[in-house]
Amino acid sequence: MKQVVTCQEMKFCDSYTIERMGVPSCVLMERAALKVVEELEKRFAGEYKKQKILCVCGSGNNGGDGVAIARILHQHGCQSTIYLAGNPDHRTEEMQRQCQIAANYQVPVVNNLHSEEYTTIVDAIFGVGLTREIKGEYRDLIAELNEMSGWKVAVDLPSGVDGDTGAELGIAFHADLTVTFAFRKAGLCLYPGRKLAGQVIVADVGIYREDGAEPKLFSMEKSDLRELPEKEADGNKGTFGKILAVAGSSGMCGAAFLSASGAFATGVGMVKIVTPEENRIPLQTMLPEAMISCTDDLEKDFDWCDVLVIGPGIGMTVKAADKVQFFLKKAKQEKKPVVLDADGLNLLAENPKWKNYLDSHVILTPHMGEMSRLTGKSIRELKSDRAGAARALAAETGAVCVLKDACTVTAAPDGRAWISLSGNAGMATAGSGDVLSGVLAGMQAMYPETPVEEKDTGFYAALGVLLHGAGGDQAAVRKGMAGMKAGDIACGVAEILKEQ
Ligand code: APR
Repeated sequence: MKQVVTCQEMKFCDSYTIERMGVPSCVLMERAALKVVEELEKRFAGEYKKQKILCVCGSGNNGGDGVAIARILHQHGCQSTIYLAGNPDHRTEEMQRQCQIAANYQVPVVNNLHSEEYTTIVDAIFGVGLTREIKGEYRDLIAELNEMSGWKVAVDLPSGVDGDTGAELGIAFHADLTVTFAFRKAGLCLYPGRKLAGQVIVADVGIYREDGAEPKLFSMEKSDLRELPEKEADGNKGTFGKILAVAGSSGMCGAAFLSASGAFATGVGMVKIVTPEENRIPLQTMLPEAMISCTDDLEKDFDWCDVLVIGPGIGMTVKAADKVQFFLKKAKQEKKPVVLDADGLNLLAENPKWKNYLDSHVILTPHMGEMSRLTGKSIRELKSDRAGAARALAAETGAVCVLKDACTVTAAPDGRAWISLSGNAGMATAGSGDVLSGVLAGMQAMYPETPVEEKDTGFYAALGVLLHGAGGDQAAVRKGMAGMKAGDIACGVAEILKEQ
């Protein structure tokens, strides 16, 4: 799990290191430039003289990094050239200093982007200082750079990407590689910024969080799955967790099957599906390992389980609504973790008073459409700041919010949020969310003996999202992104856990 920062936090860390710790800014800039050069030269494979590199520099400190990169490459024997964008009067002190040093070393400066063909283009126009839509001269410049051939490398952030939300501010540089400094910026984890950045390398430049501030935003990647507990050798099916899946409706048993499959894939001991009688035979045929309950003795089913999944495929009938209300209310009273998914969320949107049944042990798993119904915000608005939207719902409801999208954000009501870097476009397939609901329940069931108050519901929900994405990546390797189906993700989850 790695810390992710906003632009404001990054600027704070920067100035803390410079002003409070006394590290001169030119030292940090030199380190940053050296790190970028190191990454570039890995690709040059010793053939420096053949490299024609254009460093396109803005007037801020990101531009200063770019000028320093051009100068170091020049000293190493590459044919590096500087293109200076923007008004010279707006240059920061650091940028001016770098321009002076580059002039002393006689690094060539061009005024025309097309005076040569370049093998590499380095974008150092804007970094974390980008504050508004890109227009005019800068817009034309970035459009032109995107048209040019060559390997594209962004310094800190691709110019035009909002470092906090990943949004494209009018236009953005399309990078193959982004070397970012000290911490991954949130905008490099969230789409479209994540796509525009290409491969991301986080370079240590000697800036750390030394102000004692609690990190609040994290990225998670497959290696973080080592946090998962091993199965106890002396456990039994009772101690590995009992999941109650309140799922399926007349003629709709697929969602129940997939949710239960997701739970089984995490290694839970038992799964019982509460569903209408007509689903009994198909479910028992597809998944004989699951128990099926079709009675109205909801009390008994509730008492049996450790964790509940409520919602996959239940429909929007009055009967479904009564069931959801019963289980939500009871789970709050008895402090049992709940994953509220699909129609469970749509029913919550129709019954806002049910928000009283939510607490920090409830995990809400809306996709963008469900989130829009829950919050009244447009999908466009939600997509413009996914982390902000997930955090706002978690803060408002006191529940954990897993906002599902190409990059899923999990937010806890205490303000922490996690962005999962696993998963792929093949997972955008019917039933993938049903599998996730079961996986999330499985994660909450992993320590049935731990009292619910001591469980870090948000963290384990984020780990479940990561595991589901890693399962999807595994399925894509096996079946291909086009060929994979939701059931393959559950198989992928089991395979990933086998590797741990
Ligand atoms: N259009 C035109 N100018 C803009 C825009 C915009 N849309 N947005 C910001 N600017 C201007 C600012 O007014 C400022 O002059 O661009 C400059 C900021 O650019 P940056 O170099 O991103 O910001 P700065 O804070 O100087 O440097 C931060 O330095 O530590 C390095 O690369 C690292 O990203 C980091 C960068």
